[in-house]
Amino acid sequence: MSATRDTAQAADLLTWYDRHARDLPWRVSPAARAAGVRPDPYRVWMSEIMLQQTTVAAVKSYFEAFTARWPTVSELAAAEDADVMAAWAGLGYYARARNLLKCARAVADEHGGVFPQTLEGLRALPGVGPYTAAAVAAIAFDLPETVVDGNVERVMARLHDEHMPLPQSKPVLTGYAAVLTPQERPGDYAQAVMDLGATICTPRNPACGLCPWRSACAGWDRGTQAELPKKAPKKRKPTRHGIAYLVKRVDGAWLLERRPDSGLLGGMLGWPGSEWSEEAPADMPPIRAEWKTLNVEARHTFTHFHLCLTVKTALVPMERQPERGTFVAPEVFDPEDLPTVMRKAFTLTSS
Ligand code: ADE
Repeated sequence: MSATRDTAQAADLLTWYDRHARDLPWRVSPAARAAGVRPDPYRVWMSEIMLQQTTVAAVKSYFEAFTARWPTVSELAAAEDADVMAAWAGLGYYARARNLLKCARAVADEHGGVFPQTLEGLRALPGVGPYTAAAVAAIAFDLPETVVDGNVERVMARLHDEHMPLPQSKPVLTGYAAVLTPQERPGDYAQAVMDLGATICTPRNPACGLCPWRSACAGWDRGTQAELPKKAPKKRKPTRHGIAYLVKRVDGAWLLERRPDSGLLGGMLGWPGSEWSEEAPADMPPIRAEWKTLNVEARHTFTHFHLCLTVKTALVPMERQPERGTFVAPEVFDPEDLPTVMRKAFTLTSS
């Protein structure tokens, strides 16, 4: 493809974006950008961290809650770890929340509260990988960086009728995306390709009739668009089993334990539990008590396995001391602060 052709193709998408850009809480609209409004790098960065592995619909309310409570990176940097982890509860992939704090503190302490304005500077921040660095560089600073998420991969695979399966095809698709990235309005362009993937070039039933890139699309031309991108077969997820111990004290306090920072649900509050394993887990109650076992299990799917948690409950007297965990008073305990799997176990106790 010639340079003019690529520029014209980017321009076609930008014209579409000017009319159809989604209205998102972290976004500066194309009209406002054209009028000189610059996005706040803090909001762009936070949205991109939240949107990793998570849908726009799920992120919106968390984004609004976080930016209302911590309007600047310096305010977030000064937050208590436990408050940030609790506010993140339910969004999943909790390493992102720990890294969010680490990064905010790096920006506050090492950069005077100002995000670095180069790809390399952004890339050096904790928890900022190549995707996030490129997205913040493009969207916040209008640098012509190529931003490739799952939406963009799908769009590129179809546009080029690329049948090599993901993840093997990632570098090839990134190459296609790089050729199209314009020097003009790269921030709007990065968001436009993502919007095209999210609203027109959707995984199922793409709306090719409405697509600004249809005439350039090899997938459309050959009728292969709906089968692309090809994906290497997924491994079957194993099922792990565990026990969650839900202990209530007679004053209404609940026994909770903060999980170690590293590992799954790292840094989050949860019910004391057993190991999670493919074999039947060993019973390891955190306190001496008379246990009842609920007749339903809490089920949850993580990235690499399904989890079935047996829920054991007990009511204990005031003086009984736990071997693990801390009692949390009823006026402080909020099930919304728990990660989803722990909340599911809690919900079962009242049903
Ligand atoms: N997905 C990830 N980042 C996005 C953004 N900035 N706009 C729309 N969808 C996105």
